[in-house]
Amino acid sequence: MLKLENLSLRFDDDQIIRDVSFEVADGELVCLLGPSGCGKTTTLRLIAGFEKPEAGTISLGDQIVSSASHAIAPQKRDVGFLFQDYALFPHLTVAENIAYGLSGRTKQQVKDRTAEMLRQIRMQDHAYKYPHELSGGEQQRVALARARAPRPSLLLLDEPFSGLDTSLRAKLRRETRDVLKDRGVTAIMVTHDPEEAMLMADRIILMRDGRVVQTGTPEELYTGPIDAFTAEFFCEVNHLDGIVDGDWIKTDAGRIPNQNHPDGMEVDVLIRPEAVTLGSEAFDKALSQEVRVCSVDYAGGASHIRLGLGDDLEPTTHIHARYPGPFRAVTGDRVQLNIDQAQTFIFPKQDNT
Ligand SMILES: Nc1ncnc2c1ncn2[C@@H]1O[C@H](COP(=O)(O)OP(=O)(O)OP(=O)(O)O)[C@@H](O)[C@H]1O
Ligand SMILES: [Mg+2]
Repeated sequence: MLKLENLSLRFDDDQIIRDVSFEVADGELVCLLGPSGCGKTTTLRLIAGFEKPEAGTISLGDQIVSSASHAIAPQKRDVGFLFQDYALFPHLTVAENIAYGLSGRTKQQVKDRTAEMLRQIRMQDHAYKYPHELSGGEQQRVALARARAPRPSLLLLDEPFSGLDTSLRAKLRRETRDVLKDRGVTAIMVTHDPEEAMLMADRIILMRDGRVVQTGTPEELYTGPIDAFTAEFFCEVNHLDGIVDGDWIKTDAGRIPNQNHPDGMEVDVLIRPEAVTLGSEAFDKALSQEVRVCSVDYAGGASHIRLGLGDDLEPTTHIHARYPGPFRAVTGDRVQLNIDQAQTFIFPKQDNT
């Protein structure tokens, strides 16, 4: 459906997009994820045709719509766009906003499609209101309906839930995903929130510094990050220094099986907090040892536990674990530390800079 090949773009002397390539299949919902300033909006603007690449091509279906030498105008691309601030036209009613992009259709067709979109977003009763008479969530729904009304073959959504409070965000997220999936809409949604991307995307494209770092299903990225940046982007992790010793990696938390790193290499071992379990018995001697509890903080839903590693009385490193609900051990107690190897990631040290 959409194919970006080796796209690059420079603003003045800054290389903003660097050799970006990815594809989006028909009916797929892809999230473009990455930290602020990494080039997500710029990538959407390139796809929509508001920016022209310095190198590379963009194809929609079997047509090249952008290259350094050739560009199809944005309005001829059959692409719907919901901008970061999703501004509705303040002087138009809800119905007029939705009908705005429906030029070239008969009056009856415009009326029917507008009514259909109003029904889909359950806002039939608000058709004649103006944007300032709507809540933030309602405005967002209208903006999405406006972008979808002309049935574009590709929908681009730039942070569509920004500025909404947490519970409304969660609700609209579910609602938006359901409506896009039900109707088989092909869409790219930009977000800098990893949880939002995990909840919504069929596939995530993770960007950093104008480059694509990794693409895959939410599960593939979470369970198989290719570098420390990717691993840490999704959740806070524990870092341990490790050194490769044949088939094993020696760390302060015990030995962890080596994953093809050369002997003697210094590595960074990343362990997700949920990979750390605390029990009275070791279930895997290789990844298990008795450690001392340094602190326990009960934070409502979970306890945050800090454990000392290395020297028993003067720990050289700490590791953090989370435990659902109150944790019965107290500072100074000794507990058995077990680490789930499947959620432990090992990268050469120099990759983490
Ligand atoms: N028209 C422009 N001229 C010069 N620099 C620009 C222009 N548009 C964007 N940039 C720069 O390009 C970089 C990427 O911007 P972009 O808006 O794509 O980031 P983003 O990933 O969408 O970030 P955010 O999550 O904050 O929205 C930023 O450093 C920004 O300052
Ligand atoms: Mg942006």
